[in-house]
Amino acid sequence: MAEQGQGIFITFEGIDGSGKSTQAVRLCERLSASGVDVLRTREPGGSSGAEEIRALLLQGEPDRWSAETEILLFTAARRDHLEKTIQPALAQGKCVISDRFADSTRVYQGATRGDLRGTVDKLHSLMIGKEPDLTFIIDMDPKVALERGLARNSGEDRFEDFGLGFQETLRHGFLALARDFPERCIVVDGNRSLEAVASEVAAFAADRLGIEL
Ligand code: ADP
Ligand code: TYD
Repeated sequence: MAEQGQGIFITFEGIDGSGKSTQAVRLCERLSASGVDVLRTREPGGSSGAEEIRALLLQGEPDRWSAETEILLFTAARRDHLEKTIQPALAQGKCVISDRFADSTRVYQGATRGDLRGTVDKLHSLMIGKEPDLTFIIDMDPKVALERGLARNSGEDRFEDFGLGFQETLRHGFLALARDFPERCIVVDGNRSLEAVASEVAAFAADRLGIEL
């Protein structure tokens, strides 16, 4: 694995439909406009091999894969994403903004479908071993988020199809994660206008980057 570069690694996490992608785009635009060299990426995906694995994971019936198989597939995709996209960009000093990363595996596979968190953590330290510098956890009402997410009709709704109870469990999982990693996680209230959320996110990011926006 390449050495960590000078860049900064920022991730967005949260339940489906909470506004992560929207906020990742906004932050990217704000930082780029201020002259920061930004790379926006996403998981599962973010490299050509990982995008192929994404299709396997997100399409099809909810019970297509066991939680264990999912952990392996998400981790395989992440390893490719890290090698091909994230590490090279950080080594060039870029600010990498990823829509989801390892925290999603910790919560989706580790805590919701059998207590597999230990397995997720072991595989992470063996194959990934990288944490973001800053993580925004967008917290919001699962009912509203689910409605927003399904309204997109993306054809990638395998996880949304687990239903509202699952999204509520996920929400608590993300809040617990924020308590586990307080030095890098910031919980942002997503039940507000897009602009209000974007301003708060930008302020935290600017502070962490040591710049004014
Ligand atoms: P995620 O990436 O977390 O699944 P998205 O950013 O794709 O969420 O947002 C889901 C949907 O909700 C999109 O149609 C988006 O335009 C809309 N949306 C995002 N943020 C807000 C907000 N603060 N208020 C209202 N709608 C929003
Ligand atoms: P994403 O495209 O971000 O979905 P959404 O826009 O609905 O939030 O992510 C796809 C799905 O994959 C999402 O339901 C969460 C799930 N997922 C995991 O279960 N584990 C993981 O490690 C990752 C990265 C995503």
